[in-house]
Amino acid sequence: MKYLAFGKRFSKTYFLLVTIVVAFLIVLSWPRFQKTTLNDSTEKEIPQEIVLTVNGPIQPIPEVMPLASEKVALGNKLFHEPKLSGNNQISCATCHNLSKGGVDWRKLSVGMNGTVTQFNTPTVFNSGFNFKQNWTGKANTLEQQIETSISNPRSMGSSWKDVLQKLKNEPEYVNLFRQIYSQEISKENVEDAIATFERSLFTANSRFDKFLKGDSAAITEKEKEGYRIFNEYGCVSCHQGVNVGGNLFQKFGIIGDPLANKPTPITEADLGRFIITGKEEDRHVFKVPSLRNITLTPPYFHDGSAKTLDKAIDIMAEYQLGRKLSKNETELIVKFLRTLEGEYQGNPL
Ligand code: HEC
Ligand code: HEC
Repeated sequence: MKYLAFGKRFSKTYFLLVTIVVAFLIVLSWPRFQKTTLNDSTEKEIPQEIVLTVNGPIQPIPEVMPLASEKVALGNKLFHEPKLSGNNQISCATCHNLSKGGVDWRKLSVGMNGTVTQFNTPTVFNSGFNFKQNWTGKANTLEQQIETSISNPRSMGSSWKDVLQKLKNEPEYVNLFRQIYSQEISKENVEDAIATFERSLFTANSRFDKFLKGDSAAITEKEKEGYRIFNEYGCVSCHQGVNVGGNLFQKFGIIGDPLANKPTPITEADLGRFIITGKEEDRHVFKVPSLRNITLTPPYFHDGSAKTLDKAIDIMAEYQLGRKLSKNETELIVKFLRTLEGEYQGNPL
């Protein structure tokens, strides 16, 4: 009886104590509880802050490049020189129009005597940041790439012998080369001047680069959302680095074959890097193209088969990542890609 009475008294005290402790804990944690519920509800409207820095998967383009200005100027002149072609009618700029994002907006380009190029023309802007040149990585450097343009019968259809002869007949070029290179006009000098000019075609100060460098207001919430999708779905695993591409070879069609439904037969160009190496594993492998200024350079892909950026993105999601994007997701990625439009010599491209 005595024992019971004690037990009763004990459980009463115990109950009281527990109640006090619980009440105390609730009071203590209330502000925290309130804060987390507040965060949870805002998270649905405002995307959580993405922390991106210059050391992330995409790096900004440098704002200045140390290049000899007189070589840039000479290279610019040569880039616009039709005498570099077999019929004196086609210059580099015919296909790589600098006021059209460095391309000609054609599916395939028209070269010597109306012949059509094998590939869609890639932009020359930022090509200096690519690890290799051309869709197949045929050229290791910009200097080597020039040869592939000059001697290609579908492009400029000429030869170094003819090009050098024509340039040597022009006193203006003779003087310029003598001043700048203290040498006669040669293949190496011409390549050096054009490649130096091409390296000057970089487009710094895109809004995304400003964002990477810490200006969080440089891109909108929707554009951030587009970047998040680009990142989370894995586009960034191939399109990355300074050029948001241009530093890897990858197969076009990781999941399924995007070329299977082509209305026209498969071309040699569709074989990709296989043309160069003859290795089975390089069949349909291409250099991952840069996505900088991509909104300005339709149509898309090595064959120019995608007329619009939306179409190209949907094909990428389906055949590279096995995903079907909603219309909204595609639009958000386009919005993000628009933030990669940069400036050339201080003006928007
Ligand atoms: C008739 C059109 C045409 C002309 C003229 C032309 N190109 Fe091209 N250019 C192309 C095409 C098409 C490709 C892609 C070729 C390939 O992938 O094999 C290309 C590729 C390039 C690339 C590689 C870019 C990259 O991202 O891989 C550079 C750089 C380039 N050209 C510079 C030049 C220069 C310099 C000249 C003048 C000497 C020139 N091009 C003349 C059509 C042209
Ligand atoms: C596995 C690597 C890989 C992934 C992942 C990938 N891409 Fe690509 N992307 C490529 C390759 C390779 C090409 C060139 C294909 C061709 O033209 O034959 C390309 C081409 C493109 C082009 C056309 C570029 C041009 O100059 O014509 C766009 C736009 C593009 N990708 C956007 C995206 C987006 C957006 C995603 C994510 C949804 C994505 N890519 C995912 C490898 C990849």
